Amino acid sequence: MAKAKTVAQDDHQIIRIFDTTLRDGEQAPGNSMNIEEKLRIAKQLQKLNVDVIEAGFPIASDGDFEAVRLVAQTIKGPQIAGLCRSSEKDIDRAWDALKYAGERGRIHTFIATSDIHMKYKLQMEPDKVLAAAVKAVKRAALYTPNVEFSCEDAVRTRLPFLAEVVEAVIAAGATTVNIPDTVGYTVPFEYFNIIKYLKDTVPNIDKAVISVHCHNDLGLSVANSIAAIQAGAGQVECTINGIGERAGNCSLEEFVMILRTRRDILPFTTNIVTDHLTPASRLLTTITGIPVQPNKAVVGANAFAHEAGIHQHGMLMEKSTYEIMTPESVGLSASSIVLGKHSGHHALKKRLLELGYDLNDEQFSRAFIRFKELADLKKEVFDEDLDAIVTDEAREEDLYKLDQITVTCGSFAVATATVQMEINGVAVRMAEMGDGPVDSTFKAIKKLTKSKATLSQYNVGSITGGTDAQGEVTVRVSEGNHTVVGKGASTDIIVASAKAYIHALNRLNNKQKRMVEAV
Ligand code: KIV
Ligand code: ZN
Repeated sequence: MAKAKTVAQDDHQIIRIFDTTLRDGEQAPGNSMNIEEKLRIAKQLQKLNVDVIEAGFPIASDGDFEAVRLVAQTIKGPQIAGLCRSSEKDIDRAWDALKYAGERGRIHTFIATSDIHMKYKLQMEPDKVLAAAVKAVKRAALYTPNVEFSCEDAVRTRLPFLAEVVEAVIAAGATTVNIPDTVGYTVPFEYFNIIKYLKDTVPNIDKAVISVHCHNDLGLSVANSIAAIQAGAGQVECTINGIGERAGNCSLEEFVMILRTRRDILPFTTNIVTDHLTPASRLLTTITGIPVQPNKAVVGANAFAHEAGIHQHGMLMEKSTYEIMTPESVGLSASSIVLGKHSGHHALKKRLLELGYDLNDEQFSRAFIRFKELADLKKEVFDEDLDAIVTDEAREEDLYKLDQITVTCGSFAVATATVQMEINGVAVRMAEMGDGPVDSTFKAIKKLTKSKATLSQYNVGSITGGTDAQGEVTVRVSEGNHTVVGKGASTDIIVASAKAYIHALNRLNNKQKRMVEAV
């Protein structure tokens, strides 16, 4: 087999990273975030040094507008983008939120260009779509020269029409043109050819950066993005942990680490500070409550775990036998922490910052108390334990709080839970029987909160090893159109279950409140 040509060290083109965790990522079921959570993610993206943060879709809701505005106002460094359809109302609203970023504000406007979308979704003729695209870009360009245009469903668009649209929007002022694989349909060589076709056919193509945006329906989003930059794309749109619509988007950490690890044959690099990758992944998991699969590349729990004896032996002799990148390079500390009951404020604060948690004073004080309580129960407190504590402590205003819980159960007893909660500041108590300790606990909480939500998922796992490990419970509950995930951790799994359920009910309540406020 012919060997790929080696690339000289200083011969690498910088590929821009456009992160859409807060927009496309947030659109995925169970991934919705409140404003404060979005800002925390944006701060982590700033540390990662992404080139562009797509902070939301300002016209979609007042919450989205506020989040984009706050991110535009607070974050320094990366450009801040806001999505809008190709309509004046959308564009004006987007700029109202983005203007706080000044020159770093980017209007990202889009319209679908494939026959199937134009006919069935837009019910518009191609010439009308072309005119709407041009009009939108011109409108956006009145506010800022930083305009991105996306041809939604570009991969299924007739190529001559795609080229016509791209040429027209660049002439109208677009400085970035995005060629999305909206439905995750393409394969690497086909995508390569589409980008190459545009490079070869569109006369003014050099006046704009070509961006790519790949969905993962066939598991090819990262491979397709790599093929696209080989054909001339200069920007890649991606998300932390690869979250996004349906099967997700191109995973930022995978794309970035491919370029870093295969610098020898891929003449590209990024501006990403890779030691913030693991903290970013963890922060997102903590906020959404959606865990990363253990075998996920780069940030999965097993990504650097070597189990087989033969592998362990090789690793002990020489790490590079089985390790193509180091855990440290993605921010995974090899030390696996020695925080314990003698550790003080300083040590905890430092570790939390390393993990990407920048808590305010009140959140930190509560986290420190929880840390001390846990350290009394466990010999060592691991990073994963800290993730769980922060999940519990950095939450928004909670209507429901767990005070006390007592459960009797066993092979002979009828499981009974007595739960005491604080609801709106008032202490209330209820005892319920059920099919086991968790069922009786949830029944009591449901009665106390008068909740109509249904529980669709319950998972329990242990955060670290050992019988003194914390149990971590994740639940998914729904009411009406709203579905949320709740998480709770404790060395007692019934307490962890109660916390997770109450967390979910609080999130549901906050979500419903936000919807009412937005109306
Ligand atoms: O997948 C897609 O086409 C999108 C666009 C709005 C960029 O998310
Ligand atoms: Zn998308």
